Amino acid sequence: MRPKWDWMVVILVLLNGGCYCCCGCLEQERTALLEIKAWINHPNGSALEFWVKSLDADCCEWMGVTCRTTKGQVTKISLGDLRAYWDWGYLYMNASLFAPFKELKSLDLSVSNLHGSLACEGWSELKNLEELDLSYNELDGVLPPCLSNLSSLQVMDLSYNHFGGNIASSPLVDLISLEYLAFPGNNFQVPNSFASFSNHSNLKFIWGDDNEVTPESAVEMSTPKFQLKFFSMSNCSSKTRKAEYPNFLFYQNDLKFLDLSYNNFSGLFPSWLVENNTGIQTLIMRDNSLVGTPKLHYPAHNLSSIDIASNKLGGTLRTICSIFPNLEHLIMPDNGVVGTIPPCFQNMSRLQYLDLSNNRLSSGKQELLPLFGISLWFLKLSNNSFEGKISAEFFNSSTPLCYVYLDNNHFFGHIPDSASIEYPLLHFFDISNNHFSGMLPRWLGNISSDIDAIDFSKNQFEGSIPEEFCNLLNLDYLTLSENSLSGSIPSCFNSSQSISHVHLHNNKLSGPWTYAFRNNSYLVTLDLRENGLSGPIPEWIGSLPSLSILLLKQNKFDGPLPPQLCLLKELSILDLSNNEFSGPLPLCLSNLNFSTIEPKSFDVFSYAVFLQSFEPIIHDIDKLPLARLLHRKYKWPALIVKEGIEFTTKRLFSTYKGTILDYMSGIDLSCNKFSGEIPAGIGNITALRALNLSHNKLTGTIPATLSNLGQIESLDLSHNNLNGGIPQQLVELHFLSVFSVAYNNLSGKTPEWKNQFGTFDASSYEGNPLLSGPPLTNESIEIEPQSQPIPDGTVNECREDSFLDMQDFFVSFGVSYTMVVVTIAAVLYINLYWRRLWFYFIEELITGCYYFVLDSFRMFSC
Ligand SMILES: *[C@@H]1O[C@H](CO)[C@@H](O)[C@H](O)[C@H]1NC(C)=O
Ligand SMILES: *[C@@H]1O[C@H](CO)[C@@H](O)[C@H](O)[C@H]1NC(C)=O
Ligand SMILES: *[C@@H]1O[C@H](CO)[C@@H](O)[C@H](O)[C@H]1NC(C)=O
Ligand SMILES: *[C@@H]1O[C@H](CO)[C@@H](O)[C@H](O)[C@H]1NC(C)=O
Ligand SMILES: *[C@@H]1O[C@H](CO)[C@@H](O)[C@H](O)[C@H]1NC(C)=O
Ligand SMILES: *[C@@H]1O[C@H](CO)[C@@H](O)[C@H](O)[C@H]1NC(C)=O
Ligand SMILES: *[C@@H]1O[C@H](CO)[C@@H](O)[C@H](O)[C@H]1NC(C)=O
Ligand SMILES: *[C@@H]1O[C@H](CO)[C@@H](O)[C@H](O)[C@H]1NC(C)=O
Ligand SMILES: *[C@@H]1O[C@H](CO)[C@@H](O)[C@H](O)[C@H]1NC(C)=O
Ligand SMILES: *[C@@H]1O[C@H](CO)[C@@H](O)[C@H](O)[C@H]1NC(C)=O
Ligand SMILES: *[C@@H]1O[C@H](CO)[C@@H](O)[C@H](O)[C@H]1NC(C)=O
Repeated sequence: MRPKWDWMVVILVLLNGGCYCCCGCLEQERTALLEIKAWINHPNGSALEFWVKSLDADCCEWMGVTCRTTKGQVTKISLGDLRAYWDWGYLYMNASLFAPFKELKSLDLSVSNLHGSLACEGWSELKNLEELDLSYNELDGVLPPCLSNLSSLQVMDLSYNHFGGNIASSPLVDLISLEYLAFPGNNFQVPNSFASFSNHSNLKFIWGDDNEVTPESAVEMSTPKFQLKFFSMSNCSSKTRKAEYPNFLFYQNDLKFLDLSYNNFSGLFPSWLVENNTGIQTLIMRDNSLVGTPKLHYPAHNLSSIDIASNKLGGTLRTICSIFPNLEHLIMPDNGVVGTIPPCFQNMSRLQYLDLSNNRLSSGKQELLPLFGISLWFLKLSNNSFEGKISAEFFNSSTPLCYVYLDNNHFFGHIPDSASIEYPLLHFFDISNNHFSGMLPRWLGNISSDIDAIDFSKNQFEGSIPEEFCNLLNLDYLTLSENSLSGSIPSCFNSSQSISHVHLHNNKLSGPWTYAFRNNSYLVTLDLRENGLSGPIPEWIGSLPSLSILLLKQNKFDGPLPPQLCLLKELSILDLSNNEFSGPLPLCLSNLNFSTIEPKSFDVFSYAVFLQSFEPIIHDIDKLPLARLLHRKYKWPALIVKEGIEFTTKRLFSTYKGTILDYMSGIDLSCNKFSGEIPAGIGNITALRALNLSHNKLTGTIPATLSNLGQIESLDLSHNNLNGGIPQQLVELHFLSVFSVAYNNLSGKTPEWKNQFGTFDASSYEGNPLLSGPPLTNESIEIEPQSQPIPDGTVNECREDSFLDMQDFFVSFGVSYTMVVVTIAAVLYINLYWRRLWFYFIEELITGCYYFVLDSFRMFSC
């Protein structure tokens, strides 16, 4: 796949920059281009080495330069394209450099590291300029008045700079040829009415997110001369005034895309927006404070995408199908919608993407029937009150579902097991935290070899893990935790699978861990906690080169730890607590550094695409070059899936998601039967944040090298048979918030009562009769009658006392989905890397389950 993106990038650059003429460029223009090169390279850069002085050099063929084919005059200069290949330092904006190009029509200075404010000098000469792109620079100040001389300008892009001032008194109001005006991410004040643009009869495209709209009092706007196709003023609410809708929006008959998200608009759903602007195809009103139920007087036949997430909408969905009959994307999570999914959804034959998560929906008497037979490929109903069973029809229907999230509801019953299920497209399947029961569906493994993630956790599934799951070659994430699964872990999980995160904790799995996952080079997380697994850790454990999180807590594993454990160079969290392991702690543990560079959080993202609604606009504004099409605002809700981890210490409570895994590091061997001494080498694992060796049979002294564990937050050596003194150096551990050496045979003085050690009370030291010093009181030779220095450590007893209850160190995993709105345009121009990613993404769309939206990408076939 990879080489192909490069080709596509090359094609893109050629399309933008090439000149296919043979007529040579003008002498004075070549000289002027070399001045631009000198400006870029000042004082001593080495960019644009292909732009050379020699007389026979045809500057029309230089990268970033386009000429008119007949006369050889430069018509386009694009530093934005060059910047993808060369880096350069700050450039202070100087328009005079471009004045010599008399026929210049397009000047692309995007992402060119331009600084300073625009001086007037030079601009007035560029009378023929039709396109000016200054986006993604560090330009500031107000726009200079002489820009109003650019009377031919049709495309003006000022996105993501630091321009300020009132846009109504800027030279933009004189540029009445403008068709495309983009200025998101600046500090402009933008009067609500846009009255000063009312004579811009060609204006079609206004993109002004992340500025400040200033409400105007009593501006009576006559019908403006412009008819917009695209209007976006997201995140522009005034800090001081209540948000008001721009009143020119009453008359925009051509408007196809409208984004007023993140503005704190309040009140009822603005039905007039769709009623009076009848052409709207995409409406984005997410993150406002709208209340009530969307209602219209008559259906909005042209509306295909609506994003009204994160408002305060209530009521039921009953009206949705009648007022928006042709919806393709309905994005309405995080509201207070009640009731059921009404039967009329069956009539929404174009619905592809449905997100109703985080509402208060329920099933009523019906099942999810209304959703059968329509073309949904994304269904997210997480965190509602849906109940009832899921019938075979749900899986059998012709619905091309790829992404199914039914988690956090009250669904119950069996997942139907049907040999006839044809379901090849499923990629994500999350039904966690419901009341499903019965056996796991075997057909999943027989049919869906493309599935990426399965989360069946927190249900009541029983029986064994089907061997068929071993057929899921692309499976990345498998979570079956917190069910009642029994039997052994199928040994067929093997190296041909790319599975990397496995969570089976809290089930009734039993038997030895024989060959499951052997030689799997992708496995990163293996969580088998709280089962009944027994026997030793297999010696082949060393064959898991990526294994980073190994959690075997609370099983019946026994025997000594195999030295092969020390081959797991990526290991960063090791929890073997509450088992029956015995023998000495392996000396080789100190060979592991317990910190890794490889990211461990699961991070898959998928996009729902609004591109369809752009297609008409794209065809309309066809004079814009391909790069500009990409530079449009593509707003996609992206679903980012991360593996979450919670890390709790006694005094600090923090929940981190995803990336915490990248720096979390800990060893928990508590509640076993380990014997012998604590290896001094443990002090070499300096990345450790938690070390728990409590409730074992360890003897000897506490190694002073533990004071090298500079990151450690939790250190528990209690309930062993350690003797000697507590190394005074431990007081240097500045992050320590949990510390216990209770119930050993320690003697001498407690560590000096300062730093973190000033925060530990007597319970950290109790049960050591020969220990004295603060915080132990003088008479603290007290020993609780029943407690013995060496606890007998039956698993049960240990469990009650284990760190989990003490909350010293507590990890738990789960997937978390983060819905973010990604503005792809914001990254496309930044550098080549992102462009590649873009093409990678296109490729994914083509090969993956997005087959259904493929049509929208026709525009990319050059
Ligand atoms: C330019 O080159 C000189 C001499 O080689 C060097 O001292 C100076 O730091 C360079 N300046 C920049 C901005 O790279
Ligand atoms: C801008 O460029 C012109 C032409 O190269 C030059 O004469 C002028 O000095 C430059 N102005 C500044 C402020 O650098
Ligand atoms: C426009 O250009 C003319 C000369 O070409 C100049 O005299 C005038 O000041 C310019 N207008 C503005 C607003 O700068
Ligand atoms: C629009 O044009 C009319 C007639 O030329 C003029 O009277 C009016 O002031 C102009 N409006 C703006 C905002 O420039
Ligand atoms: C809104 O704009 C502010 C800057 O004005 C920015 O910091 C913030 O991230 C934006 N919020 C969203 C949701 O885009
Ligand atoms: C949003 O609007 C509501 C009522 O109109 C107001 O109470 C609230 O403070 C506003 N929130 C923000 C973040 O401006
Ligand atoms: C909608 O447009 C009609 C004319 O097409 C106009 O009479 C009506 O006032 C507009 N609605 C609103 C709320 O402005
Ligand atoms: C809906 O869109 C179609 C073409 O896409 C257009 O012909 C029609 O006029 C639009 N409907 C309305 C009510 O604007
Ligand atoms: C679907 O649409 C048809 C025709 O408009 C209508 O007769 C029928 O009642 C609708 N079905 C549902 C379930 O609303
Ligand atoms: C589920 O919804 C409740 C309230 O609507 C919210 O507090 C909670 O965070 C949501 N849970 C998830 C996992 O989104
Ligand atoms: C710990 O590290 C030190 C210095 O790197 C080394 O000399 C020592 O042998 C190591 N100890 C163990 C037990 O690995």
